[in-house]
Amino acid sequence: MKNKAFGLDIGSSTMKAVWLSSESTGYFLNGASHAITPQKGMMSESPLDQEEVAQAIRTLMAEAKIDTKYVSIALPENQVYTRVIEMPNLSDKELVSAIYWEAEQYIPVPLATITLDYRVLRRPETQDKSGKMDVLLVGAPTALIDKYDKVLSLAGLIITSVETEILSSIRSIIIGNNFPPCLLITIGAVSTSLAIVRNGVVVFTYSIPTGGIAISRALAADFGFSLQQAEEYKKVYGMSEKTLGGKIAKALAPVLSIILGEMRKAIAFYNEKYTDEPIRQIIIGGGSAKLPGLTTYFASEIGIETAIANPWKILAHQEVQKEIIDNASEYTVAVGLAMR
Ligand SMILES: Nc1ncnc2c1ncn2[C@@H]1O[C@H](COP(=O)(O)OP(=O)(O)OP(=O)(O)O)[C@@H](O)[C@H]1O
Ligand SMILES: [Mg+2]
Repeated sequence: MKNKAFGLDIGSSTMKAVWLSSESTGYFLNGASHAITPQKGMMSESPLDQEEVAQAIRTLMAEAKIDTKYVSIALPENQVYTRVIEMPNLSDKELVSAIYWEAEQYIPVPLATITLDYRVLRRPETQDKSGKMDVLLVGAPTALIDKYDKVLSLAGLIITSVETEILSSIRSIIIGNNFPPCLLITIGAVSTSLAIVRNGVVVFTYSIPTGGIAISRALAADFGFSLQQAEEYKKVYGMSEKTLGGKIAKALAPVLSIILGEMRKAIAFYNEKYTDEPIRQIIIGGGSAKLPGLTTYFASEIGIETAIANPWKILAHQEVQKEIIDNASEYTVAVGLAMR
């Protein structure tokens, strides 16, 4: 049994930690837990706030009985530039210099402030120079990476890997080579990320600044609720309430239709580029995936089978606490990180 670095997802509302070990039969869960993110969280530059986050991480680790100082982290999609770009079929060596020029076109801030990373996703089948290849380009503000470094070292931790959230989600959800083309959408508290994944590889990805808080705000505004009350009503009734004549669903629909619009755009983009095999499934991760009735709503609006993400499918047979299973979709990113 080999312990891995643990996965830490510091969301704007909830922090999740997952620690796995790998065995010959699959993954074993050593521990997992979640807790509320301190209010200013990773947005703050103040050392006091950063110490508060570090302390919250230590408490979370103690709850999950995590006994390693090595951690894998994900940067929030909305603070990182992620893009799948089509490039001429270059050798690895040629790509090293070409990627910089490509990045200049896609990243709207000076590259001197950015840490660039890239990965070849697909090369043409023939060696022909006229063929095109797909490259995933990721640019993260160096200051953001430094801040994570600082907070995690305050917590006594050593970062062993950094990636963006969508890549972690893909690792925990899209398992096996025969996974049909799907739209993976992660709805958190402040943002939603969309990715289309085909043959295990991301075809297209981006994020929008709408999530669970916007859903609660819409409800609070319509019903004159406090945000806290709206959170509770949202979680109990969601899109499936009938007792109030569907009034809650009606209040939530405008926010959900923003998300639906983005899903439709992503699917249309895919259909234009790939005509051989349509998208067969929509998978929803993030805490907001638990909104009652959401899967049925998306499925009926878009006409594609929709399911809630369950990253715990990666575990070899193991009894896991009900609380952790019930919150499966929320752990999508942390599990993917812990699998690295
Ligand atoms: N049962 C539920 N029904 C609807 N929404 C829910 C439910 N449980 C949690 N949520 C929502 O999920 C959100 C938290 O999800 P998650 O932990 O994925 O977000 P986060 O990672 O903190 O946010 P972000 O990724 O946007 O920074 C909150 O907005 C919360 O209201
Ligand atoms: Mg999140």
